[in-house]
Amino acid sequence: MALLAISASPRKGGNSEQVLNSFVGGASTAGRETEIIRLNGLNFRPCQACGLCAATGKCVLKDDMQFIYPKLLSCEGLVISTPIFFGTIPAQLKMFIDRFQCWWYAKFKLKKPFIPNEGKKYAFFISVGALKKKEHYQCAQDVVEVFFHVANFQRKGSLLFRGYDEKGSITREPQNLQKAFQAGIDFVTSLHQR
Ligand SMILES: Cc1cc2nc3c(=O)[nH]c(=O)nc-3n(C[C@H](O)[C@H](O)[C@H](O)COP(=O)(O)O)c2cc1C
Repeated sequence: MALLAISASPRKGGNSEQVLNSFVGGASTAGRETEIIRLNGLNFRPCQACGLCAATGKCVLKDDMQFIYPKLLSCEGLVISTPIFFGTIPAQLKMFIDRFQCWWYAKFKLKKPFIPNEGKKYAFFISVGALKKKEHYQCAQDVVEVFFHVANFQRKGSLLFRGYDEKGSITREPQNLQKAFQAGIDFVTSLHQR
């Protein structure tokens, strides 16, 4: 699969998901296989800090995350789209990210590279919030950046949509979805040019 898309909002068809759908639409138009995963629809627990992954690089919790790890390994590119909640990412996305502590052990302690001889893969970050100040989006971007680093992704680009609160308000300016659509095309095209 070329593009794995993670939708972090609990609001189905909300602003960040609409932008993500456009991004993925662009990728599909460019002829690439895509898959969207809604985190809110998954059944998974937060990291329990049990430390068992320190020896193996693998998480022992048996839940939907076990289907997600292989998808992250096999995708060519990754896009995460998230709303801003209380100045950062929503709990669903934080829970998802924390479950990659096993990869942190694998990469930095056990020195088991997950993507041998391939180097880093590309990722894209999208966020949508009600507030207008750019600094307000920095915390979310920083957290996701740490995740990209641990999971061996290099951020290729990002889109911030500021000042959108009520559901569907993102479509107020049609150029928002057009921008995301074009970014999706450009992103998957860049995957080929590596
Ligand atoms: C629990 C909660 C907390 C929020 N906190 C913030 C915030 O700190 N900053 C902000 O700009 N918007 C905040 N918002 C507004 C959302 O980011 C905004 O409505 C966004 O468009 C939601 O995207 P979605 O439709 O994809 O869920 C919050 C919304 C909720 C439900």
